[in-house]
Amino acid sequence: MVKKTINTIPVIPNILNNFLISKNKFHKNTYFLQIKALILPFITIFVSNRLQNERNKMSKPTIILGIESSCDDTSAAVIKEDVILSNVIASQKVHEKYGGVVPELASRAHQQNIIPVVDQAIKEANIKQEEISAIAYTRGPGLLGSLLVGTSFAKGFSQALDIPLLDINHLQGHILAHFIQQDETKKTATPQFPFLCLLVSGGNSLIILVKDYLEMEVIGQTIDDAAGEAFDKCAKVMGLPYPGGPHIDKLAKKGDSTKFKLSKPQVDNYNYSFSGLKTSFLYLVRDEVKKNPNFIEENKADLCASLQQTVVDILMKKLIKVAKELKIKEVALAGGVSANSALRQAFLDLSKKYGWKTYIPPFSFTTDNAAMIAITGYYKYLNKEFSPLTDTPYSRVNNVLK
Ligand code: KG4
Repeated sequence: MVKKTINTIPVIPNILNNFLISKNKFHKNTYFLQIKALILPFITIFVSNRLQNERNKMSKPTIILGIESSCDDTSAAVIKEDVILSNVIASQKVHEKYGGVVPELASRAHQQNIIPVVDQAIKEANIKQEEISAIAYTRGPGLLGSLLVGTSFAKGFSQALDIPLLDINHLQGHILAHFIQQDETKKTATPQFPFLCLLVSGGNSLIILVKDYLEMEVIGQTIDDAAGEAFDKCAKVMGLPYPGGPHIDKLAKKGDSTKFKLSKPQVDNYNYSFSGLKTSFLYLVRDEVKKNPNFIEENKADLCASLQQTVVDILMKKLIKVAKELKIKEVALAGGVSANSALRQAFLDLSKKYGWKTYIPPFSFTTDNAAMIAITGYYKYLNKEFSPLTDTPYSRVNNVLK
């Protein structure tokens, strides 16, 4: 085989030679020209390589792997820009018989679920691990033991793939779920900034002013229990399985919402309270069962409908107050309790009455899921808001969501 001689190699001694001659002759101009000729090819190669790398980066779509493990759902999702490719959720049945989430059992179940769930999310998204641009994980608020599992996994995986980490506030995730697109070709309308978001879940009841994707302020919040917690605890009193919210919703459809009068809180500002309602429900049932042991069975649907209507009235009253005072007409609903049919209906009815433009997420994005973590990660990625390996999980919510 004939070896091809590369032209540039013999050129170098020639240049050096010329350089020496020219130096001897003190031909300054020639001297600089020779130096330039010597280093120019290297500079050109270096610059063109860098440009090519940048071009590759820019043409590559941003793919985010999201990981959620704040409570009792282990979830992983993949999104490409703002379009969802997969969203896998492993719910933990182990808590059902205890009537609530047992933190220790939740973290153990997360440990068992996390690898298969991430693996399935990547497979369903039909991507290779090397295509992932960054990993977004829920840092808080939530159960610390549960959060630690997702956080540690995300850190390890990001190190293995040599890609950045994005720490996500779970509540921001619930709100930005409104920006997840399901179909690249048919994009749906998203809320316009600034908008108000009523975020109601098992652990939180908040009214949030959303100024931009990553700029949010808590306007009001519960001073004790969350709306979902009230549903779940009252369901337990009636002997319904955990989580009780969906069971109450189903039974309430056949009940009379005016049958039982339950206590409504008097709380200042835009804050909520649900512990008084929970207690008044408990006392009502306890007193009536003393008189009639079959009281719960005979009145279950009416009890559910009355409780549900009271929760909806409490939630909507404060939301209307904030919307009026801040003069905002873009209003969104988020969190697990936003799956409630009476709340959704009240939301739609009030939007007509007050001229609001409303946004209700699809059912699959109401309860805890990693797609909402991934979309929040996408906006943080665009802002280059990466997080260090030293970040640790947090359990409580702040007034400014970051
Ligand atoms: O957002 P999520 O999945 O978890 C938390 O971050 O808390 O919300 C779970 C809560 C539970 O309290 C559950 O009972 C409630 O959402 N929930 C409902 C309904 N579906 C779920 N509450 C009322 N009606 C429903 N249809």
